[in-house]
Amino acid sequence: MWLPTVLKSIEGDMQSAGLKLSAEDIYSVNRGSIKDAIVLFGGGCTAEVISGDGLILTNHHCGFSAITDHSTLEHDYLKHGYWAADRQAELHNAGLTATFVVRMEDVTDRILPLLAVGLSESDRRDAIGKLATVLTDEAVAGTHYGAVVRPFNYGNSYYLIVTETFRDVRLVGAPPSSIGKFGGDTDNWIWPRHNADFSIFRIYAGTDNKPAEVADGNVPYKPRHVLPISMDGVKEGDFAMIFGFPGNTQRYLTSYAVDYVINTSDPMRIEMRTASLNVIDAAMRSSDKTRLQYADKQAGISNAWKKWQGELRGLKELRTLDNKRVYEQEYQVAATKAGKTEYTNVLPELEKLYAEYAPYAQARDLFVEMAYNGPQVFRYADSFKALAEGHKKLGTEGKLKEAVDERSKASEGYFKDYDVEVDKRIFKALLPIYRKHVPVELAPAFLKEIDNKFKGNGDAWVDDLYARSVFVDRSKLNQLLAKPKNAKKLAVDPLYKVSRDLFDNFLVKVRPQHAALGDRIEPAMRTYVKGMMELLPEKTYWPDANSTLRLSYGKVEGSEPRDAVEYTAQTTLAGAIAKYIPGDAEFDLPQRLIDLYNAKDYGEYGVNGTMPVCFTSSLHTTGGNSGSPVLNGKGELIGLNFDRSWESTMSDIQFDPKKCRNISVDIRYVLFLVDKYAGAKHLIQEMNLVHDNSPTTIQLPIHR
Ligand code: ARG
Ligand code: GLU
Repeated sequence: MWLPTVLKSIEGDMQSAGLKLSAEDIYSVNRGSIKDAIVLFGGGCTAEVISGDGLILTNHHCGFSAITDHSTLEHDYLKHGYWAADRQAELHNAGLTATFVVRMEDVTDRILPLLAVGLSESDRRDAIGKLATVLTDEAVAGTHYGAVVRPFNYGNSYYLIVTETFRDVRLVGAPPSSIGKFGGDTDNWIWPRHNADFSIFRIYAGTDNKPAEVADGNVPYKPRHVLPISMDGVKEGDFAMIFGFPGNTQRYLTSYAVDYVINTSDPMRIEMRTASLNVIDAAMRSSDKTRLQYADKQAGISNAWKKWQGELRGLKELRTLDNKRVYEQEYQVAATKAGKTEYTNVLPELEKLYAEYAPYAQARDLFVEMAYNGPQVFRYADSFKALAEGHKKLGTEGKLKEAVDERSKASEGYFKDYDVEVDKRIFKALLPIYRKHVPVELAPAFLKEIDNKFKGNGDAWVDDLYARSVFVDRSKLNQLLAKPKNAKKLAVDPLYKVSRDLFDNFLVKVRPQHAALGDRIEPAMRTYVKGMMELLPEKTYWPDANSTLRLSYGKVEGSEPRDAVEYTAQTTLAGAIAKYIPGDAEFDLPQRLIDLYNAKDYGEYGVNGTMPVCFTSSLHTTGGNSGSPVLNGKGELIGLNFDRSWESTMSDIQFDPKKCRNISVDIRYVLFLVDKYAGAKHLIQEMNLVHDNSPTTIQLPIHR
C-alpha cells in the first residue's frame, strides 16, 4: 500500500514487474496523472473517472444507500436497476461527495521538530493540531480546496493532503440487485464469485468546472484525467495495480495485541453475532415483511461476522502470533546490541500496557456489540435521553411540546423496521454471552438485578422489561407522548433505565480508562515502529492504511489458499447460471440476462463464446478499496475491486502473498451489462475503450 509520493523510489521495481508507465504518469502535481481519475466516494469508498464528462464508476454496495433512497414500491431501483436515459434523468443525491487529491506533501519536518519534549499525548495532539492548522490554512489560501494533516506510522510522520470536493454527484445507473449483489451474503467474501458489484454516477460542477452546491444549472465535470478502458481483458500473470483509499490495516501490532484479537475479540464478537444472526435469519426466512425490515441490519452484522471468521482462521494458519513473538525477540536482540534503552524498554512496556488494556477493550467491544449491533431498544431508548432528562428545562423554555412531537413523529420510521419479538429474541440470545464475557468490575448494574430479582433467569427478566416498557410498542409510546407532561415518565421506563445503565456504565467505567491507556499505547507504538525501521532497516516498511490514497501492485493470479485447494483467477457467466435459483432471495437472476447467456449475445465483450465475470489478483486491499480501479501496466481499467476472498481477510494484520487475493468485476462484464443488458449505449459512447494496439493513452486533454 504505497504512498503515491514515494512511487519514484519503486518505479524500477514496478517497471520490471510490468508497468509501462512512469511514476510521474501515476502521480504528478504538475500535470494530469492517473491520480486525477481517482475519487474518494462519499465517506468510505473509492470511485474512478471513466469519461470526459465526469462519469464515475464505483461498487453497487457503495452506491447502495443512494439507490435505496431513490427506490419506492413503484420504482424499485434496488430490485430492477436504474438507467438514466439522458442527463435530465440523472438523480440528485443530497450529501453525497466526490473528492480528488490535489497533492500530498510530507510535512513531518514542519511538525515534529517544533514539538516540545516530554509532552503528554493529549498536549502533543493539541500542539500538532495548531501546527496543522497553520499548514492547512497556508495550503488552501485563495483556493476552493480543502486540506488536512494526517499522521502516519503512529505519528512518526505527517502528510499534508490537499483535496477538491465536489458536492453534486448524481446517480446514472445501477444493475438490479440480482446482478449487483448476486449471491448475497452466501457468496460475500467468497471466491469463486459471480456478481457485478458496480454502479455509475456523474460528477457535476459549476460552469467554471469548480465544485458547486447541487443545482440544476450545474454541468458535467471535465476531469484532468480519464481512465481508458481495456478491451483486451486479463490473463494469469498479467501485471496489475490498484489505486484507492484503503481504510485501516494493523500490520505492526505486537503479539500482545494479536493475542487479544485471536483469543478474545474475534471469537467473542463472532459468538455474539452468530447468536443474533440465528434469530434474524430465521425471522427473515419466515416472512417477507421481516425480511425487508431486517435486510439492512442483517447485512451490516453479517459482513464483519463473516470477515472475522476468515481472519481468525487465517491468523491461526499463518501462526501470526508465533511469528510476532519471534520477530519481537529479534527486535529485542537488535535493540540491546544498539544499546538504545528507549527501544529495549518499549516491548516490555507494551506488554504491561496491553495486560491493563485488555479488560477495557473487552468491555468496549462487548458494549459495541450489545448497544450498536444487538437489540435496537438500547439505542432507541437512548435517543430519548434529551427529553427524558431535560423535560423540566424544555418545559420552562416552552419547547417541550415541540420535542415530544418530534419523537412521536420519528417513531413511525423507527417502528416501520422494528419487530418486537425479533428484538426480544436477540436480547435473550445475547444476554448470556454478554454476561459470560464482561469483566465483573466493568459490568453494568442490571446484571445484579437479574440475579437478585429473577434468580439469574435472564429470559424472565427480558420478558418482564418488554412487557412493561413503552419503547417496544409504538401505540403505547404514542399514547404516552400524546401528553407532553408525560415526558417525565420516560426516565422511569424499565427499558430506559436498563439502556441508561448500559450507556452510563460504558461512559463512566470503561471509556475514560480505555482512552487513557490508548494514550499510553500510542506513543509506545510510535517508538516501537520507529525502532523497527532503525534497528532492522533491511525489511520493507510502509505505513498502515488510514483512508489516504495508496497504490498496491501485483498480478492477476489465482491462489492456493489451503492444502489441495487451488483457485484459478477468472470466473464466467456460466458459473453464475450454474448458481442460479429461480425466485431465490440471493441467487435469482433476471430473465434478460439468462436470454443473453443462452444466445451467447456478448457483443464485443465476450471471449470465444464465454463472458468473463470476476477475477482475482494479488493486490493488497482492505475495506475502503471498494470501488477502486484495477489497472493494467498501461494504466487502463481492467476491473473494479469489491471484495477479498475469505482466506485473505487476515491480510489487515498479516498479508500472505500465497493466499491473499482481492476480487474484482471484470470490466468487460460491466460494459456488457451497460451495453447489452441495459441498452445504455450512450454511456459506452462517452467512454474511451482501447485495444492492445492503441497507443499508450496517458496523454489526455487537460481541461483546466
Ligand atoms: N464484503 C464486501 C465488503 O466488505 C462486500 C459487502 C457487500 N456485499 C454483501 N453481500 N453484503 O464490503
Ligand atoms: N467490500 C469492502 C469495502 O467495502 C472491500 C473488501 C475488503 O475489505 O477487501 O470496502
